[in-house]
Amino acid sequence: MVVKKKKVEKEIVEAVDESFSDDERVGKTKEDSKITKLDDLPGIGPVTIEKLREAHFEDLMSIAVASAGVLSDVAGITEATANKAIAAARDAMELGFISAEEVSNKRKSITKITIGSTEVDKLIGGGIESQGITECFGEFGSGKSQIAMQLAVNVQLPVDQGGLDGYCVFIDTENTFRPERIKQIAEARGLDPEKVMKKIMVARAFTSDHQMLLAEKISDLIKDKKLPVKLIIMDSMMGLFRSEYAGRGTLATRQQKLNKHIHTLQKLADLHNIAIYITNQVMSRPDIFFGNPTAAIGGHILHHACQFRIYLRKGKAGKRIARLIDSPYLPEGEAIFKVTEKGIEDA
Ligand code: GTP
Ligand code: MG
Repeated sequence: MVVKKKKVEKEIVEAVDESFSDDERVGKTKEDSKITKLDDLPGIGPVTIEKLREAHFEDLMSIAVASAGVLSDVAGITEATANKAIAAARDAMELGFISAEEVSNKRKSITKITIGSTEVDKLIGGGIESQGITECFGEFGSGKSQIAMQLAVNVQLPVDQGGLDGYCVFIDTENTFRPERIKQIAEARGLDPEKVMKKIMVARAFTSDHQMLLAEKISDLIKDKKLPVKLIIMDSMMGLFRSEYAGRGTLATRQQKLNKHIHTLQKLADLHNIAIYITNQVMSRPDIFFGNPTAAIGGHILHHACQFRIYLRKGKAGKRIARLIDSPYLPEGEAIFKVTEKGIEDA
């Protein structure tokens, strides 16, 4: 009984304390003070931050998606304080709803890069889109990397020729990027190969952590070096993750890291109107008896993050078949193209 009374008193004291934030006491409004780190949250002082950190609440996002009950438990604050902190973190992260009109306006700025084949472009609604991730998966030699190198050239074309007049960042995890191939493709398009090569920033990733770090560094190229990056290529997305996290027991860790990595890419796409192209291998799925017995690696986390998923397979006489899979607004279908010395072309 006594304990309960004390708890109530403590809550009242804290509630009174909370009714004015430090900023309000000095006459600042919420708009004046931008929330960028844990210390900026209302009602959260150094002692609380220490407790939060111990419980692995280290950034605003972790607070924004937490429940008030859990926060108040781990940080020893009231649920009211926790709720205020959560609300402020959510505001800062700009989580939540925007109007359909805003969605529509944002979509108006989406731009597209031609793949090089009019048939495949048609299949995917005009080319690969900015503000989103396009995944291309298929067996070895099906043309995933060839499309990647073609896109690295095409993004540099003027807008009226299906490009975005921009730079490409190419992250190569399999050592399959070939500058000679870029030169060949550029020449076939009537472009100056030397100029084209200057606008492709290539990095070789050696581990999945390295791959993640490189993705995080892309914003430096855009902000500090002011490069107009319009395309990011990850060839391949899952190769390193797959080999490093091979056992069943490591799947949860892999998916957590992958989730973070995808978030980094998606944020770049959203913030800078960039198109993301990733390649992926397929694995045999003996448990699937109907349809195509192959599935892309990466599970539902990767699957749901992609606006477009293109499945490639080899056809007769060097032809390639592209199939659009689970598009949110385009019909499923197939298109045929070929890989020639000039690059990607209609069959
Ligand atoms: P993995 O990375 O091994 O999973 O395969 P991938 O899907 O990335 O295959 P990639 O895009 O590297 O395709 C390789 C294929 O493209 C080769 O087997 C050739 O058929 C074709 N190819 C590449 N360069 C040329 C070329 O200069 N001329 C022609 N005609 N075909 C080419
Ligand atoms: Mg490849």
